[in-house]
Amino acid sequence: MTVSTPPMGWNTWNTFGENINEDLIIESCEAMVDKGLRDAGYEYVVIDDCWSTKERDPDGNLRADPSKFPHGIKYLSDYVHSKGMKMGIYSSCGPKTCMGYPGSLDREYADAKFFAENEIDYLKYDWCYHPRNLEGKTLYNRMKMALNATGRDIVFSVCNWGEDDLLEWIRSVGGDLYRSTGDIADNYTSIKGIFHSQIENLPLSGPNCFNDLDMLVCGMNNSGNVSAGGCSYEEYKTHFCLWCMAQSPLMIGCDVRKVNGEILDLLKNPYLIAIDQDPAVRPLIQWNKKGDDRFSYAKQLANGEYAFALTNYSDDETQAVHMSFAEIGLPLNGEWGFKMRDCDSGEVIEKVFEDKIYATVKPHSTRVFRGKLVRVR
Ligand code: GLA
Repeated sequence: MTVSTPPMGWNTWNTFGENINEDLIIESCEAMVDKGLRDAGYEYVVIDDCWSTKERDPDGNLRADPSKFPHGIKYLSDYVHSKGMKMGIYSSCGPKTCMGYPGSLDREYADAKFFAENEIDYLKYDWCYHPRNLEGKTLYNRMKMALNATGRDIVFSVCNWGEDDLLEWIRSVGGDLYRSTGDIADNYTSIKGIFHSQIENLPLSGPNCFNDLDMLVCGMNNSGNVSAGGCSYEEYKTHFCLWCMAQSPLMIGCDVRKVNGEILDLLKNPYLIAIDQDPAVRPLIQWNKKGDDRFSYAKQLANGEYAFALTNYSDDETQAVHMSFAEIGLPLNGEWGFKMRDCDSGEVIEKVFEDKIYATVKPHSTRVFRGKLVRVR
């Protein structure tokens, strides 16, 4: 399998944790279609931990918990596929998953066969209970080989939280995406911490192997499995904008049956999604000239345009944030400038920006613009 742009979808964990079942998956899939999320690009429906019985069946095979999934996993895959979407599931490289369900250690080939027979398209493979006598690169390679042996295209979503020198081997073992940090929580501190911790690692992220900053918490509003205070709309906006600028996979974590209004619009923003899905996958240039809480980011896109993000990390002050074009090498002689699209409204701004992009940004918020270089005179 190769994945040329960051996978997008929805995952059960952030909101539902252990409380998952067949109706939830079907209703969520339907909601994604009805609310335009599928058509915005969210493709994978991923069942995280806690889907199987606590013990394997008498033959040692995985089995969906009949009280949660009475018709089994294939039934759901068929349903998800009938909607033009793809099915994801979860296991761990140890003997158990994080929540104590059976993991795939020493059962890789049988489990991969189970996934393929159930027409799974995406496997999130966790790090819990990993045996100490085997290295991460071996454990993940083992499952990747087993997936390959099935002959089915299955996206391999590595989830080892950046441990065991992950960056050194992730491309070699064939991870399509890799969780680079511990788990996200539904608050601004967690979002900011994860993003800042990965800026220097983004040059490794690229087509077929994406740095996964973890599932989105936008719209969780402090309810659900990873609730931890919740965020304001501006904070959720910063979260989404930064994940798009970093070209992280976009896995929605809120209850898609209930999401609406400005958060739904944010999750579907086509200008931000286009940045996330840009085929060039170039890393960011970060700019924090004054060393204060105003940061700007520039990213070169495949068609030669640039994405600019202006983030105000101040807790209480609305501030003007800017990025000088001299930083990205533009001669400031009045001959060239950027024609900008405001990624909030989608509108192209009349004025040409010749020396810098700037905006007034609310506390904890982010503004994103997409610029095309134009001759001024
Ligand atoms: C780990 C992962 C999470 C989630 C849980 C499930 O903590 O990092 O994303 O999959 O396990 O138990």
